[in-house]
Amino acid sequence: MAETVRVFDTTLRDGEQAPGFSMTPAEKLRLARQLEALGVDVIEAGFPMASEGDFAGVEAVARACRTVQVAALARALEADVRRAALALAAASKPRLHVFVATSEIHLKHKLRKTRAEVLADTFKAVALARSLVADVEFSAEDATRSDREFLASVLEAAVAAGATTLNIPDTVGYSVPSEYANLIGYLRAHVRGTRAADGVTWSVHCHNDLGLAVANSLAAVGAGARQVECTINGIGERAGNAALEEVAMALHVRRDSLPYATGLALEQLHPTSQLLTEITGVTVQPNKAIVGANAFAHEAGIHQDGMLKSPMTYEIMTPRTVGRAGHELVLGKHSGRHALQARLTELGFALDREQLQRAYVDFLAAVDERKAVTERELRAIARRSGAAPAFAPAACPGDSTESLWAV
Ligand code: KIV
Ligand code: ZN
Repeated sequence: MAETVRVFDTTLRDGEQAPGFSMTPAEKLRLARQLEALGVDVIEAGFPMASEGDFAGVEAVARACRTVQVAALARALEADVRRAALALAAASKPRLHVFVATSEIHLKHKLRKTRAEVLADTFKAVALARSLVADVEFSAEDATRSDREFLASVLEAAVAAGATTLNIPDTVGYSVPSEYANLIGYLRAHVRGTRAADGVTWSVHCHNDLGLAVANSLAAVGAGARQVECTINGIGERAGNAALEEVAMALHVRRDSLPYATGLALEQLHPTSQLLTEITGVTVQPNKAIVGANAFAHEAGIHQDGMLKSPMTYEIMTPRTVGRAGHELVLGKHSGRHALQARLTELGFALDREQLQRAYVDFLAAVDERKAVTERELRAIARRSGAAPAFAPAACPGDSTESLWAV
């Protein structure tokens, strides 16, 4: 049996903090219901001290989502912790998430506090959180740029005060996979009270400033982390957070080398991504893994030829696994005769060799001029080639009876 990795979704908190992604409480609730259907383990719904709207968003999600844990973020300050606990009051499975920065850079330039003060704040805030909510997570902000021994002592204080999840954020996306895995290993070995029997879960939270958020998260899982914090479409501060759909599919497709299970309903990945786009109005880049418009699209002639023979030639997962309708073959200037013929056959035309050659020359001239051709233009091209329309369109190739072709 594969070990389980818990999925902590922070789309509604870290994701929502990014410019262009803010959501109203009603929008948060709509997305939270979808996240629940996706099967995430924890929904971090907001930072209640940040604004009235954030408080209302957490409250609404806490009241409505009964099967999933709902988390609220708080700085290691009494007022923040009390406000987060209040917002979570109606939750069936509340989690209070307390954080404080531990790097010298943050202590000196942001908090203007000594190490001793940060240690004391950690213990006090986590103990207060624990007196209000049974499940407390502690995060050491900027952990990857912190002194390891100090970081370990802060985490030890958090555990002593009652935290049962310890999160090690790569807040500025600075780490690389080997180093991050090594840090998790070091902390597991050096922070007292965190053995498996102590009921403590190690968590990772990676930002994508160097494009390494997913790689770092997976490396950390290999080193013993059992909770991954991530967001839909990878949204989040600056370059974003680890993309949930990428973590999920890496664990699924490469379960031979990453033998860890999640409770996710994978076919909800694409619908969830689409819903986030609908709510925020921000589309994902076409080449985005798993959920981008081109993630299962093929235009090059050699690739289309392969796909028509077997989708295994150029796809490592089926689009249906992630809830997409199917792959798409896009007819463009890189497509070959074989692809054109397959599409025209699907449209109900039978072409001999010469007709196909005429149609292909005509088609290339059209796509050179306009980049794409519509179905109507393709029919006209077929007719000009002299091909006779058949009575019924032929069944299309591939894994479905629907069209594979984009027009
Ligand atoms: O990136 C970060 O350090 C965070 C913490 C508040 C968990 O988002
Ligand atoms: Zn973050």
